Amino acid sequence: MKQTLPTQPGPIGVFDSGYGGLTILSKIREALPQYDFIYLGDNARAPYGTRSFDIVYEFTLQAVRRLFELGCHLVILACNTASAKALRSIQINNLPTIDPDRRVLGVIRPTVECIGNLTHTRHIGVLGTAGTIKSESYVMEVRKLFPDIRVSGQACPMWVPLVEYGESQSDGADYFVQKYIDALLAQDERIDTVILGCTHYPLLLPKIRRYMPEGITIVSQGELVAESLKDYLRRHPDMDARCTRGGGCTYYTTESEEKFADSASAFLNETIRVSRLDLNE
Ligand code: DGL
Repeated sequence: MKQTLPTQPGPIGVFDSGYGGLTILSKIREALPQYDFIYLGDNARAPYGTRSFDIVYEFTLQAVRRLFELGCHLVILACNTASAKALRSIQINNLPTIDPDRRVLGVIRPTVECIGNLTHTRHIGVLGTAGTIKSESYVMEVRKLFPDIRVSGQACPMWVPLVEYGESQSDGADYFVQKYIDALLAQDERIDTVILGCTHYPLLLPKIRRYMPEGITIVSQGELVAESLKDYLRRHPDMDARCTRGGGCTYYTTESEEKFADSASAFLNETIRVSRLDLNE
């Protein structure tokens, strides 16, 4: 059934299971400072990476619907797991009935598009959540655009919890950072480019750099997604006209406001105001 949604222009929605999408949001806001944004983190139900296809689809659809109700016409899934497991189903099964003029975009395609120019050996690696790696979304997307590139994937199930629990800089994190990098490189010694295929991982970048052998290019998604969104808005003036410009950002979390504001302020280097919402309602 078609929902009744606000029709006037609104902010651009940015969604993630938790804090990871803030790494994308901050790059998008640097590239498009004039636009308004709503960030929604489903912190109460994070991590998504170990959840089944059906659950990630259900949770992501709830978030997208809520962002539409809050006035967004365009939603970015700033989460690889949701992009891998829910994006296509939402685009094909749900958008036509919710509102065929609204759009949901993901982060995997814009990341893969740049990879052809970065790898010389044509052997790349992807670090991601168990869900993203198991979905083989990166392998399939790379095969479509660059059939000559070989992709190895490594799930890093401990990395998101380290970030969500504020342990990304702790000494204990080193063990798990090194463990998954070594496991990836052991799969294929010709890898010269590694995609951080989870929006939480840039928060582990100092440690990832420490354990990644020199000469391997590390691809972080923030700037790529921001540039791709800028290009999308340029190519779709109808959608661009439905995005408000005021330079503001409103934050929502499904967990406690204080907890989110505390952690998010550290990621964003600014104090923010957060509201709690319940996606089950
Ligand atoms: N930040 C997300 C991603 O890019 C999700 C991590 C999680 O919730 O497991 O995959």
